[in-house]
Parts: sequence; C-alpha cells; structure tokens
Amino acid sequence: MLITFEGIDGAGKSTQIKKLASHLRHKGREVLTLREPGGTEVAEKIRQILLESRSDITPVGELLLFSASRAELVAEVVRPALEQGQTVILDRFFDSTTAYQGYGRGLDIEMLRTVISISTGALSPDITFYLDILPEESLIRKFSEKSLPLAFESEELDRMERSGLEFYRKVREGYRKLIEAEPERFVRINARLKVQEIHQEIVRSLRERFDEGS
Ligand code: TYD
Repeated sequence: MLITFEGIDGAGKSTQIKKLASHLRHKGREVLTLREPGGTEVAEKIRQILLESRSDITPVGELLLFSASRAELVAEVVRPALEQGQTVILDRFFDSTTAYQGYGRGLDIEMLRTVISISTGALSPDITFYLDILPEESLIRKFSEKSLPLAFESEELDRMERSGLEFYRKVREGYRKLIEAEPERFVRINARLKVQEIHQEIVRSLRERFDEGS
C-alpha cells in the first residue's frame, strides 16, 4: 500500500508520518517512510540543488529536477518495496509537483500530467492525506517572533520557502482543486487540530477505507 502526505511547508506532515509509521508497525506491518525530493544517492544530490542552491532555477528546470529525483526514488526504492508487500509512506509525491510547479509557478497542468506519468511510471497513491494550513500560519509556526515580510528574507529558509506568501496562496488553492477533482483519494485534515486528533483521524480514515490500521 502506498500512502502519501501533502500540504504546504510547515503543516506538520513529518510528525504525523512518524506517528502513523509507528502505529502501523505496532500492528505488524512492515513500513518504509521516505521523503521527496531525495531518498537515493542521486535523488539526495538533486535535493541539494533544488533546496540549498542560492541560484535561480527556471520553473521548467525545477519541474525536471523534482521529476528526476522522483524517477530515481520510484524505480530504485518505492516499487521494489511495494512488490515485497511493504507499506510505503511518502512525505510528498506528484501532487506537490502539480500544486507547486503547476498552480504555484504557473506551468501547464496537462503538460505536468505527462511528465508525472513518465517519472512515476503511472504509480498512484492508494490514499493521500492533505494537511491543510493557511500559509500565514505555517510561517508563524516557523518564525513566531519575526514579522512576516522579514521572514521571507530569512537565511533559515530553503530556496522554495523564499518564494513568498502569494506563491503559497496559489499552492494551497492548487491543492484545493486537486482534492475537488479526486475526492476518493484525498483526505483533507485541518492542520490546526491537535497532533493526537490528526493522528486519530488518519487512523480512522485508513480503517474506513481499507480496514487497515485498526
Ligand atoms: P522539504 O524540506 O522536504 O519541506 P517540507 O517539510 O515542506 O516537505 O522541502 C521540499 C520542498 O520542495 C517544499 O517546499 C515543496 C517543494 N516541492 C516542489 O515544489 N515540488 C515537488 O514536486 C516536491 C516533491 C516538493
């Protein structure tokens, strides 16, 4: 089974992934957790270019780098694990590309579908948890004591995070459209809920949909 987590930066995905993985392991499942971009030697190098680089990257260049990282991860790690019957939990997958490079950067959504299909070999998640948070709130979580305009200049931010509030508003709107188009795959959860409440909602959704995680 392939489970993915999505949401704008700072929504709390990694905490929930850890909790879900440990819950499923307790239930006897073999669980592999991975994050995108990254996860293989080559993909980690691509991650450095994408996130740590101070240079500008064009939207198409960005798309192809994320896609190259994904192609490596899917072929080298995700598919083999799924074939062995493992549960794979991914911190971001192709919905991030549609939301960030499509709705955020403005690349053509139909063109993205083709690129995504090439990079994943048409692999799709069984379920996708979307943790919904306002961009302003996600920043406040990160920079409680700084003012928001200054926060986007911060050296602590990676290359994507320096894209600004307007960019993140478009990304969030993109996720909204994705969920609307595929309600059967997505579970939208309010990221303002308590950590334990979010976890319980995730476990409940898995049980309802797959009799899994109960
Ligand atoms: P990461 O440090 O993993 O952040 P997060 O904790 O928010 O997941 O950084 C990944 C960044 O890359 C994040 O800003 C989202 C962005 N991204 C894309 O723009 N397109 C993609 O296809 C993927 C996978 C990520």
